[in-house]
Amino acid sequence: MFAISPLFVCVALALVRTSSAVGTPFGLAAGTTGGGSATPAVPSTLAQLTTWLSDSTPRVILLESIFDFTSNDGSTTGTICKPWTCSPNPQFAIDANSWCENYEPDAAKSTATWPVAGTKPLVVASNKTLLGKGSTGGLKGKGLKITGANNIIIQNIQITDINAQYVWGGDALQIDGGSNIWVDSNYFQHIGRQMVVTGYGAVTKTTFSNNVFNGDSTYSATCNGCHYWVALFTGAGDQITFALNYLYKTSGRGPHVGGTSGYFQDIHIYNNYFVSVAGNALDPEIGSKVLLEGNYFNTVTTPTLTGAGQTYIPTTSTQASACSSLLGRSCVTNVLLSSGALLAGTDTGTLNGFTAATYKSASIMAAASVPSYVQAHAGVGIVN
Ligand SMILES: *[C@@H]1O[C@H](CO)[C@@H](O)[C@H](O)[C@H]1NC(C)=O
Repeated sequence: MFAISPLFVCVALALVRTSSAVGTPFGLAAGTTGGGSATPAVPSTLAQLTTWLSDSTPRVILLESIFDFTSNDGSTTGTICKPWTCSPNPQFAIDANSWCENYEPDAAKSTATWPVAGTKPLVVASNKTLLGKGSTGGLKGKGLKITGANNIIIQNIQITDINAQYVWGGDALQIDGGSNIWVDSNYFQHIGRQMVVTGYGAVTKTTFSNNVFNGDSTYSATCNGCHYWVALFTGAGDQITFALNYLYKTSGRGPHVGGTSGYFQDIHIYNNYFVSVAGNALDPEIGSKVLLEGNYFNTVTTPTLTGAGQTYIPTTSTQASACSSLLGRSCVTNVLLSSGALLAGTDTGTLNGFTAATYKSASIMAAASVPSYVQAHAGVGIVN
């Protein structure tokens, strides 16, 4: 058993009082209501789900089964290239927007046929809750896209099997501008490109919590059965909480933050459980400020890459107490077990991005408690 803080108990008691989602959004997404008090309704067809997600009516959409879009939009034949020559089973890249010519001019080209659905995500408009029932609600073959929309809850659904063999075959969840977005207790696996991605518009007041990012895959960019394209936060001014997530058998972008000059991202990453990462977890690039605390890295080859981003990743009590002057509290140390060294994480200037009340009052458990907590709480079939 791990120690439960009083705040966690309060959150649990509040569960029964909300109707549009289960539990209460926390971190930067606090206050998000999604479809609010709309009566939960179960769509009966793919077309009805598509309309309900994208229309201008506040809705609580309940998914009790898998909505399989794989063959919904037919298939297409086109050019692919092979950027990775490792073996076995490298991903191929669909030659979208001349990507193979522009970025991988030497990659061998061929032709393939793939389902179109993955490349045409479902549009999610403002004031929506998409909620799964039990462990059997979700989407297959097609992901979600939020573009400049606000107040959205995506909770307890699976998103799987989106052209997993092909980079540019589709993302599971793409957010190009938006705020008050809570992505909680979902399960992602077998995705061609990103499991979650933000950009280019700023994504603020957003929390990713209790999600499972299962990287176990046949095809990968790293040819080791571990998915590379996990989470990418690269919007123009992102402010995101990433907490209590379970990432395993991944090999990169866990998450990748930043990379575009002139953009900034403040990302608070806490109490996540990283297991069997055969590659890198955090990839901090230009523009990013990342406070990473209270996480548990178990058998992670490279917990962080070096990069142009600013990172604070305490592993000692001295480093934890250095947070006090700006945050009014100590940070929580991270734990590394059978993992590589941190290559970044000692820039106290990072903390200037985390002085808002929500960071100061965050309820963060000791990293030692994270493995059992996250394994018991992350993913589908638990909250509803
Ligand atoms: C979402 O709901 C809020 C509050 O009811 C409302 O003010 C806003 O116009 C809605 N947004 C859209 C795009 O319908």
